[in-house]
Amino acid sequence: MKLLVINGVNLNLTGRREQGVYGAESLDSINAYLAEYGKARGVQIDFYQSNIEGEICTALHNADGMYEGVVLNAGAFTHYSYAIRDAIAAVGVPVVEVHMSNVHARESFREKSVLTQVCKGEILGFGKNSYRLALESFLI
Ligand code: DQA
Repeated sequence: MKLLVINGVNLNLTGRREQGVYGAESLDSINAYLAEYGKARGVQIDFYQSNIEGEICTALHNADGMYEGVVLNAGAFTHYSYAIRDAIAAVGVPVVEVHMSNVHARESFREKSVLTQVCKGEILGFGKNSYRLALESFLI
């Protein structure tokens, strides 16, 4: 099985920005943790990060037929990107939406996701383990 983890805008700064919300661990370190998790289960996990909305759409297009599933933390794009929403709807590959923080316990603008409706499911609030649980959802 091959799975793809996509991180969107500002998530390259994980470990440096708002440590009280997102923790002190870097995205590279989180990805290494997830890669180990996959390796132990015979799953190949690839990683992609971009701060550019259209590049995330292209990554979703390219994932179609290449991966059994995509785990997507779109960052703030989650709350307003109809382009990413339409890209998810356009492809056959199932996408699980992820957030490290509990977006419902934060600012009101974070309560709305324009992506959830076209995702297979959503996992949020568990820090780096949100990604792990989302990966696991493809294994059960
Ligand atoms: C986030 C939550 C978003 O609201 C925020 O814009 C992010 C990160 C999370 O992982 O909790 O950049 O997706």
